[in-house]
Amino acid sequence: MKRFGILCDGGDAPGINTAIRAISRASFEREFEILGFSDGFEGLIHNDVKIMTKQAVSGILNEGGSILGISRVNPFKDPKYTGLIKENFKKNSLTLLMLIGDRDTVVIAKKLSDEGIPSIIIPKTIDNDVYGTDFSVGFYSAVNTISNALDNLHATTSAHHRLMIVETMGRETGWLALFGGLAGGADYIVIPEVPYSLENIARHVENRKNEGKNFSIIIVSEGTPLNEEIEKSLEKDEFGHPVSGKRRIGYYIAENLEKMTNIKARTTVLGYIQRGGVPVVEDRILATRLGIMAVEYAAMGKFNGIVGIKNSEVVFTPLEDSAYKINIADTKYLELARLFF
Ligand code: F6P
Repeated sequence: MKRFGILCDGGDAPGINTAIRAISRASFEREFEILGFSDGFEGLIHNDVKIMTKQAVSGILNEGGSILGISRVNPFKDPKYTGLIKENFKKNSLTLLMLIGDRDTVVIAKKLSDEGIPSIIIPKTIDNDVYGTDFSVGFYSAVNTISNALDNLHATTSAHHRLMIVETMGRETGWLALFGGLAGGADYIVIPEVPYSLENIARHVENRKNEGKNFSIIIVSEGTPLNEEIEKSLEKDEFGHPVSGKRRIGYYIAENLEKMTNIKARTTVLGYIQRGGVPVVEDRILATRLGIMAVEYAAMGKFNGIVGIKNSEVVFTPLEDSAYKINIADTKYLELARLFF
């Protein structure tokens, strides 16, 4: 008889509920029990828990957000939290934790395993930066949102003959800007993985103008670094990441390009819209496959790892091979996108 605790850690992403449903249904099939902790590690710390039933996970396949809630709480911030987590893990007779989480969750899980608490991670993040999987749950839904936004922005930007700088989320990686820009036909893509220069962007915009294209859409990932001074002064979250939107890279590029090209420039920061909405089919299928396989691995006694997808196959990556690493954006997609700039 196995008993799993599910919790959602980090930022939300479309497809979390699909994963909760898959883990739960696969567990019920094997007569394993599932406990759901509210609001991520906060629920485990305060023992805010409920038994998951077939009814509780019914009708949630296509719902955004998380029926269990989610939080970005560092359980190692205070030794008291770690003690409470160990106590509640034992009190609830858990076999292991099913963590629907991101890159920070992998580090937390590694530290928990050192404390004797086993887990399996189902990677979800719109940033797609978890090492050990080609794609994380939620990424394609966010790309879909970005692509739709670019369709809308094309109309207004071309009508006004302007420059539109579109800022996406993505932290230190450029997956969202890259795939969103490729899918939505951006005229220039700026990502942290590739150094950029304002002069090159300005030249490109002017070349387009000379070819009769009197507007340009430039997409930029929020984590593209600015100068050292600004980087140091940025407000950080509990895990040391700059708070989303504070770098204002989209505004920085717009202000400078306007001066350099004499073309009016505007900025659209897509923000949390990218995290909402219903999961697209790719995320529904991914979350379902990973959720079911997480239970299979647990049944086999395989844990302390990430259940990911590589070359369309579900794979298991041990925590120590993933923690502290980043899945950076594959720049071969930028080569493809450049063909259309
Ligand atoms: O990790 C997902 C993400 O949406 C990042 O793209 C963004 O920088 C961050 O979360 C925002 O997090 P929060 O919800 O803590 O503001």
